Amino acid sequence: MPSSSADQTLAIRVVDSMERMSGRHPGYRRSSARGASFRATFTPTGEAAALTTAAHLQTRAVWATVRFSNSEGDPRTPDTAPVTRGMATRFHLHDGSDTDLVALTVPRFVASTPREFLELTEALAPDRLTGEPDPARVHAFVGAHPHLAEAVAQQPPIPVSYGSTAYWAIHAFIWVDEAGVSRPVRYRWEPEAGRTALTAAEAATRTAHYLTDELHQRLEHAPVAFDLRIQLAEPDDPTHDPSTLWPDHRKEITAGRLEITAPADDQDPWNMQAFNPTRVTSGIRLSDDPVLAFRAHAYAESHRRRSRNQ
Ligand code: HEM
Repeated sequence: MPSSSADQTLAIRVVDSMERMSGRHPGYRRSSARGASFRATFTPTGEAAALTTAAHLQTRAVWATVRFSNSEGDPRTPDTAPVTRGMATRFHLHDGSDTDLVALTVPRFVASTPREFLELTEALAPDRLTGEPDPARVHAFVGAHPHLAEAVAQQPPIPVSYGSTAYWAIHAFIWVDEAGVSRPVRYRWEPEAGRTALTAAEAATRTAHYLTDELHQRLEHAPVAFDLRIQLAEPDDPTHDPSTLWPDHRKEITAGRLEITAPADDQDPWNMQAFNPTRVTSGIRLSDDPVLAFRAHAYAESHRRRSRNQ
């Protein structure tokens, strides 16, 4: 991906602003600070093979590593909070390379451009007097960007389990087939166990780390599985705006099944790793979504800081 110094400068501003919003927690990711990593196998169904040459979407199963996280930048945020959760997956391909798929428990992103995201994080910074975000500033942000009203109003579920909620990779990606024909797609992980959520009152009875504890317990009895569902675009579906959805009735296929089997042997290397949604493989290209391209810069900046224990 071409790297522009303007993007890098903006990434520094965005990560600074994320730190003002969530506090600075040395050594932690500036978003999705607290998480846990797991071993998995991904088995393609073959349904995607006619649409992309991507190696992990053909016929052979690959190893994968999955990091589930609480999306807040403050690692002390309890699992009982009504916030989004993350699922970052790294597919380890047979040629020794990797490709990542990074997803959240909401289908839309809260900004259409990196600058809008910067403005939103600035609006969410805690007020000096109350220590809480000022709802009037968020209201003003939405007033100035009415197209983001639905995305900002999304209520993520408080899942019963990391294994009982859906995760969306949100952006459009472009699949390229053997003949060079390209087609925009969107990804969703659909839990085999079905989607189940807690009410706020039920969540209040759970512990601060119940989601990680629950997944460890669940894996002692059986693997936890997800289907990789793919939504296929029709010719005029926009690919540049992660705050919008394609119609529900767009054709979907199941590209494969992910089976999570056990906690990763060693959590430390995975805590140090940086997932990167722009790390695609041959047969998959980035769309024209400016937020997708920008994420590579923001994640690198966060990784640079936390690698120095800042
Ligand atoms: C302007 C847009 C965005 C910015 C600036 C941003 C920023 C960040 C940063 C700084 C990190 C920590 C990276 C690290 O230290 O390794 C992160 C992690 C993460 N982000 Fe984003 N993000 C954006 C959009 C999104 C979107 C659209 C999604 C979902 C599709 C998403 C899902 C995640 C997840 C799941 C993680 C945790 C990855 C892990 O486990 O390592 N983010 N984000």
